[in-house]
This record gives sequence, structure tokens and C-alpha cells, in this order.
Amino acid sequence: MRLRFREMVPEDAGAVAEVEKESFPTPWSRESFWREAANENTCYLLALDGEKVIGYAGCWISFGEAQITNIAIARAYRGKGIGTQLMEAVIRASMARGCTAMTLEVRPSNAPALALYHHYGFREAGRRKGYYSDNGEDAIIMWNTKLAELFPDAVGQGKQVPHEEDIPGGKERE
Ligand SMILES: CC(C)(COP(=O)(O)OP(=O)(O)OC[C@H]1O[C@@H](n2cnc3c(N)ncnc32)[C@H](O)[C@@H]1OP(=O)(O)O)[C@@H](O)C(=O)NCCC(=O)NCCS
Repeated sequence: MRLRFREMVPEDAGAVAEVEKESFPTPWSRESFWREAANENTCYLLALDGEKVIGYAGCWISFGEAQITNIAIARAYRGKGIGTQLMEAVIRASMARGCTAMTLEVRPSNAPALALYHHYGFREAGRRKGYYSDNGEDAIIMWNTKLAELFPDAVGQGKQVPHEEDIPGGKERE
């Protein structure tokens, strides 16, 4: 596997919507992702295997806070640490845009996502009752208000180029 990360552009919207479709019960459309990529108050990154889009993560940025809108890895690529690397990339990218805090919502039943967010110091700050319309599940609201403690080297670094690397042993796990 040749894993790399880069910023999403509107032309990626179709490929991103495909990953979205296999990841969420009420997926966003291709048009939504096109608009998100064209909006300068957002930050969307892609994970790619070569040229193939295998994941994405995005957030809205406002007044020094980033709100994660979605993060997903294509089914066949899950459980290989790619979501963890993508989350680091999006935290660093939002810090480069001046963010010091990040928030998101997650289903209590979503064990992999909860593990991912705990890994990066997110803590439960509240719940929205019956938030998810497909099954009435609550949303856990999570915050990390001290991003600088996660990646001190990213503070005040300005815009960063997402890194590119191989996953050791990635081929064996495919
Ligand atoms: C959530 C998601 C992005 C994680 O991506 P991933 O590449 O599979 O995650 P990773 O392999 O980096 O693992 C992240 C953490 O989840 C844990 N994990 C992975 N698969 C798991 C599973 N099936 N059950 C429980 N924990 C799991 C890993 O052990 C790791 O935890 P750690 O840091 O404590 O070791 C991916 O599962 C996904 O796309 N899910 C569908 C969309 C979704 O639910 N997005 C989140 C919305 S809030």
C-alpha cells in the first residue's frame, strides 16, 4: 500500500461520496462534498492508496475552533491505523489554521470511533438526546480544548503539507 494524505479539492467529491455511502446510514451527497471543498472555512483531507481515495476527514473552522463534520475510512482499509494517522493530519492542519480546540459528535455504539477520539485526548462534554434520525441514538459531544498538548510542534507552524509514507507491513494485511 502506498499511503499518502492531501487536501481535498472539489473534483474529489465523487470519490469521497463513495466512501461516505459505505460508511454512514444517511450519507452526504457528492454535491455537499463539492460545496465543502470549495468553502474556505473548512479543512478536508484525503487518505489515498496511490491515487485511490480510501478515506477522508473534515472540519469546519471558526474562531479558533474546529468542528469535525465527518471522518471515514473505506471498509476494506479499516483497522490498519489509517484513521489514526488521518485524524492526526486533520488536527495538525486545523492547528496550522489557528485552532486550539476541536469538537465532534459520535454515537455511543461506535467503538472504533470512540477509541480513535480517546486516543487523541477527546473527552465527553455532554449528550444530545435522540440526535441521530435513523435510529434515535444519542450523540456524545466530545471536546479536546488543548490541541497544543497533543502536538506542541504544530503550534504556530502555518500551513502544513500533509505527510506521505508507507505503512510497514501494509501489503501483508491487505
Ligand atoms: C472510525 C473509523 C474512521 C476508524 O478508522 P480506522 O482506520 O479503522 O481506525 P484505526 O485502525 O486507526 O483504529 C482506531 C482505533 O479504533 C480501534 N478499533 C479499530 N477497529 C475497531 C473495532 N472494530 N472495534 C473496536 N475498536 C476498534 C483501534 O484499536 C484504535 O484504537 P487504539 O488507538 O486504542 O488502538 C472507521 O472505523 C470508519 O470509517 N468507520 C465508519 C465511519 C464512522 O463511524 N466514522 C466516525 C463517525 S463519528
